[in-house]
Amino acid sequence: MRYLSGKARLAGVMGWPVSHSRSPRLHGHWLAELEIDGAYLPLPVAPDHFAEALAALPKLGFAGVNVTVPHKEAAYAAVDVRDAVAERLKAVNTIVVLPDGRLEGRNTDGYGFMANLRDQAPDWQAAAGPAVVLGAGGAARAVVAALLDAGAPEVRLINRTLEKATAMAADLGGAIRPMGWQEVPQALSGANLLVNTTSLGMAGQPPLEIALTPLPRTALVTDIVYVPLRTPLLDLADAQGFRTVDGLGMLLWQAQPGFEAWFGHRPAVTEELRRVVLGA
Ligand code: ATR
Repeated sequence: MRYLSGKARLAGVMGWPVSHSRSPRLHGHWLAELEIDGAYLPLPVAPDHFAEALAALPKLGFAGVNVTVPHKEAAYAAVDVRDAVAERLKAVNTIVVLPDGRLEGRNTDGYGFMANLRDQAPDWQAAAGPAVVLGAGGAARAVVAALLDAGAPEVRLINRTLEKATAMAADLGGAIRPMGWQEVPQALSGANLLVNTTSLGMAGQPPLEIALTPLPRTALVTDIVYVPLRTPLLDLADAQGFRTVDGLGMLLWQAQPGFEAWFGHRPAVTEELRRVVLGA
């Protein structure tokens, strides 16, 4: 048992609801492992109170917070300064309280996505071919921007509501091709990566049902859903001999830069951490 001192550094995650969040467990493991005098708390903050709660952080002596659903866009609007990625995505998932009390907004979701692929599939190269992204919500935005930055020659962005994919393509710029669900076979043809960012396959949601036949054998298949860890999409891809990467690593890696900024140590993403977070 460790006890906090009066100098303990404070961070946490603001969400609504926040009870399902695994971030306290994740950061708690790192704090214990690194024997840091600090705490990372679940902070249930309703949308109506979000701006007020954020403004209180410097006054309470917090080093910063993560921000999750439904606050990421509101956090973007509320912070004083933003890094280039947050600026581009118009969403913030990590806030650092600067020494003068101003709030800096960052977005590490795309970093988490790419770091997970680098970790789990080190020989896979984004530049080797087009990527197919299913879904055009907030998570997709971070994934698409990260793939383009990593050198993907084209992102084929498939969404049930085509207008959302078209709007994202116009807003982010770059080689994004909006496509409808009926075009999945053409999109998969010649692709180097398939990513699911929709809620399909999540526990309690319908499964994602697509035929992977047109996808080249060398392609990687990944899902950002991690409850369940093995989604129907990953099971199908496995059964057909594709390499797969589950979504848990994205959660773990997106947490790393915030932890380092708040607590001053770069934590490791390990198998043990995966087990601890899965045990939640
Ligand atoms: P997040 O921020 O996690 O990305 P979101 O913004 O709510 O969540 O986005 C959810 C994504 O899942 C959207 O792309 C959504 O498609 P629409 O834009 O057409 O709503 C997609 N999605 C959710 N349920 C779906 C379903 N039954 N079939 C196809 N796509 C679905």
